[in-house]
Amino acid sequence: MTARVVVLVSGTGTLLQALLDASDHDFDIVAVISDQPDALALERAQGAGVATAVLAPSSCASRDDWDLALADLVGAHNPDLIVCAGFMRVLGPGFLSEFPDRIINSHPALLPSFPGAHGVRDAIAYGVGVTGCTVHVVDGGVDTGPILAQRAVEVLQGDDESSLHERIKVEERLLLVDIVRRLSVGGIRITGRRVTFT
Ligand code: GRF
Repeated sequence: MTARVVVLVSGTGTLLQALLDASDHDFDIVAVISDQPDALALERAQGAGVATAVLAPSSCASRDDWDLALADLVGAHNPDLIVCAGFMRVLGPGFLSEFPDRIINSHPALLPSFPGAHGVRDAIAYGVGVTGCTVHVVDGGVDTGPILAQRAVEVLQGDDESSLHERIKVEERLLLVDIVRRLSVGGIRITGRRVTFT
């Protein structure tokens, strides 16, 4: 059976593009949903013939209402897996409780180092020699959920945020596609913080 995947995006959507390009009998991107009406990622989805929707927090009366409205929007697509691919919002309990252990996120740093919106900039500022990317299960914290997989990327002399982020995203795309495929054909067991692929 082909896994139904909903992707949440906020930006340019190169991670989404990698998923769109890789989708096959294992998984299908059934919808792309953004909090940003002008996200380039929406155009990528439309170009691939995938359903899109926008739900800006400003269109809801409260943060909790936005979580519930997003859960309705996503749930209508009956997803097996929800992927945050450059989605720059924290999901609240009203959303998370609808899809336990079925939401994953890609982050451009080696968690638990450098969580949050500026993982690449923070890694450079700290002076690390190696950073990378992490795909993890989403929980109620900021980039705190159990880790599914990581890849390391060397920080080069002269790297700025943009050059380093581009090299990280090359690895991120490969890692995310790999994990989405693994979760599409199999499951996971979470014991404490440890994840086993089943
Ligand atoms: C990725 O590095 C993701 O981890 C971060 O934002 C970037 C999204 O890139 N949160 P894109 O919009 O998919 O090109």
